[in-house]
Amino acid sequence: GAVELGPYRHYMQKEIFEQPRAIADTLHGLQGIVPELFDGVGQPGQPGAAAWRVFKEIDSVLILACGTSYYSGCTAKYWLEGIAGIPTQVEVASEYRYRTSVPNPRTLVVTISQSGETADTLAALRHAQSLGMRHTLTICNVATSAMVRECELAYVTRAGVEIGVASTKAFTAQLAGLFLLTLALAQSRGRLTEEAEGNYLKAMRHLPAALQAVLALEPQIISWSEDFAKKENALFLGRGLHYPIALEGALKLKEISYIHAEAYPAGELKHGPLALVTSSMPVVTVAPNDALLEKLKSNMEEVRARGGVLYVLADADTHIDSSEGLHVIRMPEHYGALSPLLHVVPLQLLAYHTACARGTDVDKPRNLAKSVTVE
Ligand code: G6P
Repeated sequence: GAVELGPYRHYMQKEIFEQPRAIADTLHGLQGIVPELFDGVGQPGQPGAAAWRVFKEIDSVLILACGTSYYSGCTAKYWLEGIAGIPTQVEVASEYRYRTSVPNPRTLVVTISQSGETADTLAALRHAQSLGMRHTLTICNVATSAMVRECELAYVTRAGVEIGVASTKAFTAQLAGLFLLTLALAQSRGRLTEEAEGNYLKAMRHLPAALQAVLALEPQIISWSEDFAKKENALFLGRGLHYPIALEGALKLKEISYIHAEAYPAGELKHGPLALVTSSMPVVTVAPNDALLEKLKSNMEEVRARGGVLYVLADADTHIDSSEGLHVIRMPEHYGALSPLLHVVPLQLLAYHTACARGTDVDKPRNLAKSVTVE
């Protein structure tokens, strides 16, 4: 039936606020990291047997996706290499399908798609299969989609129907699924102790509450959006796990507010984008308190020295305070490896409120489609 808007102005806003529920549903009934999670729908045979066999056989991962789903894949690369120790490549589906690549039959091909019907992603999957890559897994939000039907294994996210063209809750649900995949691959390689598994699961179970606390930052984001609505350009910076989150923040802003936005890994600032920094260029910085914080702080100094105005999402325990040209929103907690799921939320809200302030058609931005089923 029709999905009701309820108290929200747009589906996108509703979907942003549904994220605690989407993640809670994703984790519902989760007892531990078991291969059954990746059976997909109607897998024959012993639950989890196919997934376990595949996980034992593969030596690397190749992620193929488009748009926002591609950015969840880019985030997962950091987890898959950092936690599971498995070499991972991520490629835009429309590139992979047409280039000459070196197939590896021991690679697990992972497609990520909200709709499960994106033409380029399906074609990339079929291309990989035609090159002899038989082990395929999809992270997909639609159980009845072509993607789920055509992949050997599937993890169906439980974000629920997503209507806003700009993807939000499907993205965080994909990240949750990709994190579970990382833990499953780590386990199959003997790299996940029981203690680590327990700690990761505990952190995941805390996500709905943590997301709720981040959503409560909305009034502060609205005040940032009043500045952004007057700009025509914006730069997003992040490092490590949060570089793909900066990319996703920039994509959200350009898709719905039509402000030109670019994302850079903060260390690349001096190799080009610094030339663009003036007082009319807002610079959004995702600054979790991780090993790279000190380096990020010096990148921020470089921006300030050129009169750039910084908008920083800082973790609870970072010592960065607001001052002239430096706007800080402090995140409620420090989330470690799961931090990308939380840090993306204020960026979604920033794009949303900036678009509202500019009066664009938020749920149906010009020239874009929810699902691109033709090339
Ligand atoms: C379109 C949508 C995006 C989405 C992308 C990939 O461009 O506007 O929000 O991220 O397609 O879609 P998929 O369904 O494959 O995730």
